[in-house]
Amino acid sequence: MENLHPNEEGLVSWQQRQEVWGYQSAVFWFTGLSGSGKSTVAQAVEHALFEQRLWPKMLDGDNIRTGIGNNLGFTENDRRENVRRIAEVAKLFCETNLIVLASFISPSRAIRSMARDIVGAEHFYEIFVNAPLELCEERDVKGLYQKARAGEIKNFTGISAPYEAPQQPDLTIHTGKESLSESRDKVLQFIQKKVHLS
Ligand code: ADX
Repeated sequence: MENLHPNEEGLVSWQQRQEVWGYQSAVFWFTGLSGSGKSTVAQAVEHALFEQRLWPKMLDGDNIRTGIGNNLGFTENDRRENVRRIAEVAKLFCETNLIVLASFISPSRAIRSMARDIVGAEHFYEIFVNAPLELCEERDVKGLYQKARAGEIKNFTGISAPYEAPQQPDLTIHTGKESLSESRDKVLQFIQKKVHLS
């Protein structure tokens, strides 16, 4: 990019926002298969944080893909671009001192590593929503697995496109074994530690 001169000086700084709001924002990136419960847990966490008068913002595939991602599909390149845009948005929200709960399949380590680089590693935490494929398929909340098995949806994660589980996630929740409130509370406790509530 040429002829651009980004300049943050003179704006209200992230540091100033942190001092007034009493905590330090971060991006909590939920990854997992479709139907693993990422958005369900993230939503429950969003409500709980809001009740504590912290300022969360949940972003997920089903919503983002109808807006800034609405020209993207599910090829590897499109998923990469989807995640790139989301990570840039997450970074802006984070600098506004919002606690970002980003819930995206983000199927490969390379894609998640790109998200981490965009946001900045010191503000980025990966949460693995671990649920076996068989369970997600059995739940089939949106009926998409059935369509994927029938070949009506191409490149479906876990069926006709790969999912690489994180090797060293910052936190793992097991939505097949834990209740929703157990998973929510695990994430909440983790977030509370990371945002350094004053
Ligand atoms: S990502 O791979 O680019 O991170 P994202 O999380 O935004 O995916 O979107 C996933 C959601 O899109 C799924 O929960 C599902 O509802 C829907 N979807 C539609 N087609 C596919 C597909 N081929 N693979 C995975 N999810 C799909």
